[in-house]
Amino acid sequence: MSSPVPDPRQGPRRLCHLADLPDRASRGFDPDARGRDVLFVVRRGDRLVAWRNACPHIDGAPMAWRKHAYLNADGSRIVCAAHGAQFDIDSGECLLGPCLGQRLTPVPLAVGEGGDVFLIDP
Ligand code: FES
Repeated sequence: MSSPVPDPRQGPRRLCHLADLPDRASRGFDPDARGRDVLFVVRRGDRLVAWRNACPHIDGAPMAWRKHAYLNADGSRIVCAAHGAQFDIDSGECLLGPCLGQRLTPVPLAVGEGGDVFLIDP
C-alpha cells in the first residue's frame, strides 16, 4: 500500500491557514478528497513541517492512531500507531523502532503573507 502525494503539476494549492494549525500539534490532510489523509503537518511556533502519511516500515502504512494524532504524548516525536516507530519531527528520521534510520517522505509547504499554507512543487 502506498500513499500518493499531491500532483505537483497542479502548482501551489492552498492547504489551510496557519490559524488552523495548533502549535505543537499535528494535523492530517486529504487535499485530493481521497477519503483518507495522505499527509500531515506539524507546527512548532512559526515552523511547519509536512510528511506523507506513509510509514517506511511497511509499504507506506498510515500512521495516525486517530484523526490528526501523529505525535507522542509530549509532542516531541512523530509516532506510527502500527508498531510504535518514533521519528524526528524535523528530519523525519526513525529514531526508535522497526524502521530505525529510515525516513518519512517530506511534503514541501510554503506560507503566504496572509498566513495561507500551500502545497508546493517538490
Ligand atoms: S507500519 Fe509504522 S511502525 Fe510498523
